[in-house]
Amino acid sequence: MCGIVGYAGHRQAVGVVLEGLGRLEYRGYDSAGVAVVDRGQLKSRKRAGKLLNLVEALERGGPLAGRVGVGHTRWATHGAPTDPNAHPHVDCTGQLAVVHNGIIENFATLRAEALASGHELSSETDTEVVAHLLESEMAAMAGVDGPARPGALAEAMRRVCRRLQGAFTLVAVDGRDPGAVVGARRNSPLVIGRGQGENFLASDVAAFIAYTPHALELGQDQVAEVRADQVRVTDFDGSPAQVREYLVDWDISAAEKAGYQYFMSKEIAEQPRAIADTLLGRVGPGGKLVLDEMRLPEDELREVDKIIIAACGTAYHAGMIAKYAIEHWCRIPCEVELASEFRYRDPILTRTTLVIAISQSGETMDTLMAVRHARDQKSRVLAICNVNGSSIPRESDAVLYTRAGPEVAVASTKAFLTQLVGCYLVALYLAQLQGTKFGDEVGSVIDQLMRMPAAVDRVLDSMDQVRELARELAGERCVLFLGRHVGYPVALEGALKLKELAYMQAEGFAAGELKHGPIALVEAGLPVVVVVPSPEGRAVLHDKIVSNIQEVRARGARVIVVAEEGDTRVRPYADTLIEVPQVPTLLQPLVTAVPLQVFACALASAKGLDVDQPRNLAKSVTVE
Ligand code: AGP
Repeated sequence: MCGIVGYAGHRQAVGVVLEGLGRLEYRGYDSAGVAVVDRGQLKSRKRAGKLLNLVEALERGGPLAGRVGVGHTRWATHGAPTDPNAHPHVDCTGQLAVVHNGIIENFATLRAEALASGHELSSETDTEVVAHLLESEMAAMAGVDGPARPGALAEAMRRVCRRLQGAFTLVAVDGRDPGAVVGARRNSPLVIGRGQGENFLASDVAAFIAYTPHALELGQDQVAEVRADQVRVTDFDGSPAQVREYLVDWDISAAEKAGYQYFMSKEIAEQPRAIADTLLGRVGPGGKLVLDEMRLPEDELREVDKIIIAACGTAYHAGMIAKYAIEHWCRIPCEVELASEFRYRDPILTRTTLVIAISQSGETMDTLMAVRHARDQKSRVLAICNVNGSSIPRESDAVLYTRAGPEVAVASTKAFLTQLVGCYLVALYLAQLQGTKFGDEVGSVIDQLMRMPAAVDRVLDSMDQVRELARELAGERCVLFLGRHVGYPVALEGALKLKELAYMQAEGFAAGELKHGPIALVEAGLPVVVVVPSPEGRAVLHDKIVSNIQEVRARGARVIVVAEEGDTRVRPYADTLIEVPQVPTLLQPLVTAVPLQVFACALASAKGLDVDQPRNLAKSVTVE
């Protein structure tokens, strides 16, 4: 996701916009840029890298005067984080600038149309196409150089938005309509700030809360025309729209967390959107999967006869879950390796071995060294990564980007769920290529994945019980986590979350392994969390884990069960029952991991610990 700020008022726009971008930098920091309009002239500046690079460029190049402007901090989706790909993007006349958050799914068609009609494009982004579409509409309404009638930019935006597919927030300024900042949104955030003689547009209230607490909620498929003394909102068809005004009661620091107490709790809440964004644009004509950015030739992928997943920590747990899906859907042998162990065990790597490196940051040194080793051995490497242009994707043969947006909290949550989605997509793509699944079978799983954001939303709506349980258990010394099949890596992930956030002894086990030693740990009152597989899946697994629950109950454990709604068989054995929606077996981690994330976050909070920056840890471990 990206950060967007628009301003029209009595102040110098560049200062207001830069300050706002600073408060939104958590939303993306691959590049930053601003554009201002001064006496009908557009001036812009943009730089790759952090916001500081832009600030230094502005200081060197002289300030940009003007009381109307727009700015952007980028979290790259299409195109590497370079100066040309940075926003704002301008049109051929150099009078119009636009910034964008989201994904224009039909940008390839629109780009071809713009090129065919003589527009010159200089970036790899989907956003730049929008600048040229707006240009054409402005020219159609105002002639090439003449001043536009007031409202022309808003009308041009409406006309263009009616042609776009995907999720987008767009904000534009134009020297020919000098007093206006025009924004539009579909499935991506944009909020209006109403001030005294000044008005704002922004991705979230953090950008303008220092100036005004009065906000207007922009609805789906709406366009806002903002001037210093006027705000006008319409639907995409031009009809006036009613907007809800509200008072923002957050302070600045809370606003950067969008009102959440911690970045972690915000990122847990963002998971439905993150899953939806990671799925966006992956299905092409006829329902076939299209993973364009993978860039590995199809004939090479068809020859893959072994897969090795290398990762660390939470990403490793995602890889463990991916193994079940890959072997079930693709019938390709799949090994999962701790990246720090991978290259020291002399793995057997050939040209037909596909190594998948999973990493949120793309900078984990253990994983990067595993990538280098695999490539030295002439294996193909595919990265599944959340940071565009980071080291691991750069040094891999191909990449599938998750689109979780920047993950600020050290404890990985939305990155984990989107890593799972990325792994499912790769497995389905291989199954589609190798023919182990028919197109309709692939389509059926994609349809199930498309329903996951709503399923995760339902889990998030029922977490009060989990937070209460966490407060009850805050004084415990140890918690065990059990699971079977894809629930086993979820148990490991739940234990990791509790270790890294609450500094508690927490161990995850394969439930069937308990009786081979670890059950000696069980004593009266010991909390044991059990992730129960769906009774609709492998019934035998369900039977066995119910037996495992009885084994620990017989020794006095306090059993906390995570099970799907309606699982009446397990209910009698649960001291606490946490229900999740019924989803297909292999996708169940997308819903069962969430209560464990919330549990760890709430327990750490109850202990008064630093949830976002736990002791001894770092967000990206760039040493071996
Ligand atoms: C997970 O909560 C931890 N922050 C840690 O295990 C993390 O998953 C691991 O260090 C891998 O990081 P990466 O995904 O950025 O490579």
